Amino acid sequence: MLRLNMVASADGAATDERGRTADLGGRGDLLVFRALRAHADAILVGAGTVRAEGYGPHRLTRALEQRRTADGRDTPAAIVVVTATLDLDLAAPLFTQAVTPTVVLTCAAAPAERRKAAAAAGRLLVVGEQRVDLARGIALLRSELGAEQVLCEGGPNVNGQLLAAGLVDELCLTLAPALLGGGGPRIVQGLGTRVSLELIAVCECDGELYVRYGVMPP
Ligand SMILES: NC(=O)c1ccc[n+]([C@@H]2O[C@H](COP(=O)([O-])OP(=O)(O)OC[C@H]3O[C@@H](n4cnc5c(N)ncnc54)[C@H](OP(=O)(O)O)[C@@H]3O)[C@@H](O)[C@H]2O)c1
Repeated sequence: MLRLNMVASADGAATDERGRTADLGGRGDLLVFRALRAHADAILVGAGTVRAEGYGPHRLTRALEQRRTADGRDTPAAIVVVTATLDLDLAAPLFTQAVTPTVVLTCAAAPAERRKAAAAAGRLLVVGEQRVDLARGIALLRSELGAEQVLCEGGPNVNGQLLAAGLVDELCLTLAPALLGGGGPRIVQGLGTRVSLELIAVCECDGELYVRYGVMPP
């Protein structure tokens, strides 16, 4: 299972006025975000999102930790950062304070010195030549990390590639009750083909909609 989790304004903006997601979603979105993380075996994210959002280490709330332990899984899911440049702050808490070491998923063309530093800072997986081959990358997460449930938190660039490759099973989308206008990104970029969705469920809280879609093959 590969599930995308994204938030957008009612007019489709995937970032707020500051180019981040912090002010897009409300309390319910945070609960969904945390619950999906607690259910995941690996949390995949593009390096663009890590840089823009200042990603920190993944920590479960006490209640979700207990539920996860009851499910037989004793550690939080690893965050897996996809990058070709390895332009990452390896001294940041994402790497130094993660309970489950953060994984870097990169390609053979990544700078050798940075590869060495990333391997020392956490766990490095290399798949693909100039770019990460995401299909093989996901297969590697399954074989190396036992990650059956992969949660992808974007961004739009990574989403577009995963969808185009037919790798996505579900989309969880929070629709925030706001119009932002502007020219910011949408939740998917560079898809180049139409992907149909099948509605699985809709919930509402404080005017926010939480929509769960099944993703049809492209
Ligand atoms: N609304 C939402 O729910 C949501 C969720 C997530 C993010 N966002 C927003 O989206 C924006 C960032 O999204 P984005 O589309 O620019 O970036 P992104 O998808 O998060 O990351 C793009 C980066 O990931 C790496 N990458 C992607 N595919 C790769 C491949 N096949 N091989 C190797 N590396 C690969 C590259 O990193 P390197 O440059 O390091 O090589 C690339 O620059 C931010 O503003 C963020 O706030 C919104």
